[in-house]
Amino acid sequence: MYRYIGNKTKLLPHIMSRINEMIGQGGTVADVMAGTGSVALELKKQGYSVVASDVMTYTYHHLVTNLQLGGFPAFAGVKIKGETCDSETPYKSILEYLNALKPKESFFFREFSPEGKPLNGSPSRKYFTSENAAKIDAIRECINDWIKTESITAKEESLLKHTLIMAVNEVANISGTYGYFLSSFKNNAKNAIKLEPVELYRENSEGHRVMHGFAENLAGLITADLCYIDPPYMKRQYAANYHILETIARGDFPDAAGKSGLRDWWDQHSKLCTKTRGLQSFEKIMTDMHCDRFLISYSEDGLFSLEQLEECFRKIGNVDVMEIDYNRFRSNDSKLPPKLKEYLISVER
Ligand SMILES: C[S@@+](CC[C@H](N)C(=O)[O-])C[C@H]1O[C@@H](n2cnc3c(N)ncnc32)[C@H](O)[C@@H]1O
Repeated sequence: MYRYIGNKTKLLPHIMSRINEMIGQGGTVADVMAGTGSVALELKKQGYSVVASDVMTYTYHHLVTNLQLGGFPAFAGVKIKGETCDSETPYKSILEYLNALKPKESFFFREFSPEGKPLNGSPSRKYFTSENAAKIDAIRECINDWIKTESITAKEESLLKHTLIMAVNEVANISGTYGYFLSSFKNNAKNAIKLEPVELYRENSEGHRVMHGFAENLAGLITADLCYIDPPYMKRQYAANYHILETIARGDFPDAAGKSGLRDWWDQHSKLCTKTRGLQSFEKIMTDMHCDRFLISYSEDGLFSLEQLEECFRKIGNVDVMEIDYNRFRSNDSKLPPKLKEYLISVER
């Protein structure tokens, strides 16, 4: 499972049965803070039409792959050793080619590996072993070349970036998020990075829409029977905690600041992580969207109390709250209680 703050894989049965109660088996559902795409993919599997979006670029590539690919693309524009990639399984051939690339000591090696010398003079960082960082550089730059020479389509780009991010997650030397790296390499980080073919859900792959941006700005462009909103619960900004995945998704070479090597993320700062602007954001999304039913996930220990949320949502329509007992993620020495209430709040205009 993708380790992502707020990933809803474990809550899918509750979310899906609530959506089913609210709009029945079919129709269009928007998932406007879609993250890893776990809810969007389940909606696809259960036969809904999905409009999915998120402010992070890596999410865009996950969503295109999970929602819009009904089979592996042909990679017809890629030439490997002068030959068109025309085998029976082009995606696998492409991954074999990328896996076999000569490592390149470039941006990831310099900024994120122990043998690198960060440009800002910080001590070397340990997000990846030097070997893995140089492999990531080689793969990233090859994908960039294919984009520049128009050898791959936009969907092929998304599939390759999705595949690379899944492989990077397996060998990242972090404890949960990319906010900082561990001081010594943990076992899985020592494994050699390897791109593995991802699984696709092939049925019901037509007609889904994937968008990229702030939900506050996209809401007015979306028409749906129901909108699922899974906001950040805390002050922790996703853009800061997943900056390395963002850099892979964008394929760029940003300034890596401070000791952690954080890219500038202000353009993806979420108002929902702030006490002062969060409720206004909810209200704007729900007012602007062409949709009469909303389902919002939230947690007992989130930034806003249930009372504050209910008061805000009552301006939109009737509010109903379902409570789910949830096992909190805890480190061994955590003093936090083991159980936590997760809310599913429905709002009907
Ligand atoms: C709790 S996570 C969603 C998790 C997702 N349901 C899953 O299962 O992976 C919240 C997501 O909201 C996104 N986000 C935060 N503020 C946003 C905003 N204003 N507009 C769009 N996306 C936003 C974050 O990038 C993050 O991916």
